[in-house]
Amino acid sequence: MSRRTIITNPSPTLQEKSLPVDSAEISTTEFQVFLDDLLETMHGADGVGIAAPQVGVHKRVFVGLKGNEPHVFINPEITRASFRKVDSEEGCLSVPGIWGIVRRHRCVTVSYTDRFGNPARVRLEGLPAIVAQHETDHLEGILFIEKATRITTPPSAL
Ligand code: NI
Repeated sequence: MSRRTIITNPSPTLQEKSLPVDSAEISTTEFQVFLDDLLETMHGADGVGIAAPQVGVHKRVFVGLKGNEPHVFINPEITRASFRKVDSEEGCLSVPGIWGIVRRHRCVTVSYTDRFGNPARVRLEGLPAIVAQHETDHLEGILFIEKATRITTPPSAL
């Protein structure tokens, strides 16, 4: 396992849309090592989420939260989103030193493939729901600062 370099804004790499992962690729050693690297990179940077394009890999993969635990989401799709929204104060490993308020769905349901190649679905609320939306945006090449209604640097501890 090794830590990857986190790409920081501004970079065209962060604006590129990521491509679906082929199911046959998931069980390969190379891909599993990549997932471990992604987890280690996130932990090393004290993050609660990271998406593959942040380390220059344009595949639809992110590490988010399921309960309190980091969890790998492959080919994630937000299939349901609550009408109710919340203002979340967010930062990003690719946008160091900047925080901002982003309006997010309070709850989301994510359909995805887990790291063992099994189809899965989870309903998330609170921080895990926010992280899933933030990381899904990365897969579309969108950074939170593009959606923020207000920049709050230093963080206001909303
Ligand atoms: Ni981010």
